[in-house]
Amino acid sequence: GRMTPPERHLFLVGFRGCGKSTVARLLAERTGVRAIDTDRRIVENAGMSIREIFERQGESSFRDLETAAIAELTDELPAIVALGGGAILREENREMLRRLGVVVRLVASPETLAERIARDAASTSDRPPLTSLPPVEEVRRLVAEREPLYRESADVTIDAEAGTPDRIVATILAEPLVRRLFGHRP
Ligand code: S3P
Repeated sequence: GRMTPPERHLFLVGFRGCGKSTVARLLAERTGVRAIDTDRRIVENAGMSIREIFERQGESSFRDLETAAIAELTDELPAIVALGGGAILREENREMLRRLGVVVRLVASPETLAERIARDAASTSDRPPLTSLPPVEEVRRLVAEREPLYRESADVTIDAEAGTPDRIVATILAEPLVRRLFGHRP
């Protein structure tokens, strides 16, 4: 079928390591709609890494930059937007997501998330710790704490535990709400 560019964003939410950035990139390739990564934007605007922002200015200052980055998206419809794992923490942010698009949540078990976070840490990413807990405990605790907010935010929930990124992308694109978003025609 044909796809027409949507008038709203497609947001990807979920905990660190659930695959938001990879899935956003693939969705952008598949749909021709551009991908935006709010964490990357924050880093570009601040001229330092997220770890540095946390260390020098504190988490709450990072959260302010995150809210500002989401607010900027109002003028940039349409896009596939990969959000940071904590973007759902503020009611103000959740309200903007509701207003600006369809929210797709990627879910995986704490064990899988912790494994992927550790793998990323060994290669590219530089994620600051969010608690003083050991890594797996931190994931378990925060996933549990944030669960109601992820659930409240999500229009669509996708199992990202197993399966290739391509498979996950196909599942997302098959969702009725997402098909409607892209004006999918038979
Ligand atoms: C955070 C997740 C990170 C980043 C920041 C805080 C969180 O994004 O925004 O380190 O609170 O879960 P990713 O989910 O892309 O790693």
